[in-house]
Formats: sequence, C-alpha cells, structure tokens
Amino acid sequence: MKNIETNKQTQQIFLIGDCKEKLKTISDNYIDFILTSPPYDNLRDYEGFEFSFQEISRQLYRLLKNGGVMVWIVGDAVVKGGETLTSFKQALYFQQIGFRVHDTMIYQKNNFSNPSKNRYHQIFEYMFVLSKGTPKTFNPIFDRKNVYAGFSSFGENTTRKKDGKFTIQRKRIIQDYGMRYNIWKGNTSGQENMCRHIEHPATFPMWLAKDHIRSWTNEGDIVLDPFMGSGTTGAACKELGRNFIGCDIESKYVVFAQERIAKHKCGAANGLF
Ligand SMILES: C[S@@+](CC[C@H](N)C(=O)[O-])C[C@H]1O[C@@H](n2cnc3c(N)ncnc32)[C@H](O)[C@@H]1O
Repeated sequence: MKNIETNKQTQQIFLIGDCKEKLKTISDNYIDFILTSPPYDNLRDYEGFEFSFQEISRQLYRLLKNGGVMVWIVGDAVVKGGETLTSFKQALYFQQIGFRVHDTMIYQKNNFSNPSKNRYHQIFEYMFVLSKGTPKTFNPIFDRKNVYAGFSSFGENTTRKKDGKFTIQRKRIIQDYGMRYNIWKGNTSGQENMCRHIEHPATFPMWLAKDHIRSWTNEGDIVLDPFMGSGTTGAACKELGRNFIGCDIESKYVVFAQERIAKHKCGAANGLF
C-alpha cells in the first residue's frame, strides 16, 4: 500500500483471533514498536472476551527488538468504591519479566466520560513507556512554547569552579519551542470525530497514536498493535510510513480497521474516512 505523505510503500498485516495465540506466529526480535490499549478491568464489553495478560506480556517482550519500545495505554476501573490499580500491577509485572519502565506518561483528556460525585472527575489514562533495554529511537517533539522565547538567559550566566571562583558562560538565546512534557493533553477520539460514529466502544485519538509513533520509531519500522480495535494505530502508521501488524479477537473490528486504514486520508485531522 502506497503512503501518500512520504511516498513510501508500507505493509499492513491483519491477524484475527486471540493475540495470545496469534503473537506466537511472529519471530523473536522482529517488532520495533508496540502501541496498544488493552481492554481493562472489563470496563467495556468486547463481545465478552477477556485476555490472558501474563502470557501475552511475555510474548510481547519476546517479539520486541532490543531497544524496542512498547506504549501501554491503560486506566483503572473503580470497583466497590476503590480503584483497582490494575494498571500498576501490570506495569510491575512488565518490569518483572524484563521490560524497563522507561517512563510513566499521562494522557490527559479534554473531557471526561463519567462524572464523579465523591471524587474529582477522572480525565486521564496512564501511558507506560516500556522498553527492551535502552530505547534505540527517540525523536522528541518540540512544541511547548517557551514563555521567554527570543530572550537571552537573564543576568550573568555562571558556573562555579572547584576553587569557588565563577566562570562567565556565554549567554544563550531561548528557543521558541522546548521539548514537550510527559503529560499529553488533547481531544479524545470522540471529540476528534464529532458527528461521526466509529464502530468501536473505546478508541484512542489519532493525534496520540501519531505522536507516539513519531517519537519512538523511524520510517520503515514495524509497529504492532495486538489489541487493534478500530485500527487507529494502523492508520497512523500508514500516514507516517511505518509498517503495521494489527490483531483483534473480534472479526468485525478487523474488517472495520482494514477498511478504515485503506481509506485513510493522510493529514486528515481525525483520520477517519
Ligand atoms: C481498548 S480496545 C482498542 C482500541 C484501539 N486502540 C482503537 O483506537 O480503536 C481493545 C480491543 O482489544 C480486543 N481484544 C480483547 N481481547 C483480545 C485478545 N485476547 N486478543 C486480541 N484482541 C483482543 C477487543 O476486541 C478490542 O477491540
């Protein structure tokens, strides 16, 4: 399939079935990057399917290249008045089987889905950035406007030497944009797709997928989403010239994702056809 923006040929492979089994068909150290949002705490009913977390995690570690990264986007349900903390239990398990917890990022949504009565409204999900060793790729996004852009550093910029005396440093001009923080705030998929209906109950937004793919991969890399859902990761990969492998247990989502990715218009704000 030809990528419109980069003019690069990219490949998409779709697997239908339980990723616990399907991932076994992928060779060791094959995947550069995994971006996924698993079903969590039975918050949504995906036709009654549950997933075998521990076995799938071990498969994901096996098939990731050395230096490969996985972004695991997850939240917690409130059960009997208390948060399950499944997210943290999963992160600890990943660490136990060899993943490095490279960063714990936050996806802060621009709105909340369920109003809370006895606690503040819940508007975020965790994005655990897990790696197999040191991440081999990091292309940081510089889009945080610097308040003092264009100014030079204030006063005399000095460093103290061992003997206690000061050395005067050259003044630095503060750049327009600095590196983004690890809390990413933005529209939900619902807000991106106002007046349209995606045939899936829990999609993440296109901007989030694209920004992670840009950050942790290069063109031509192989990206996996073992819980593909509506194919947001796949559409973002097509746009950015990355190869994609997607799996979902529910065949109707795989059909939907295939169609969505095939019709995906690069540069579309919401990525939907
Ligand atoms: C939170 S959704 C992913 C949504 C996706 N990020 C998107 O933007 O559309 C989780 C998906 O995992 C699928 N799923 C659940 N158990 C699975 C399993 N064992 N193997 C593969 N897919 C599974 C569900 O059918 C559902 O589509």
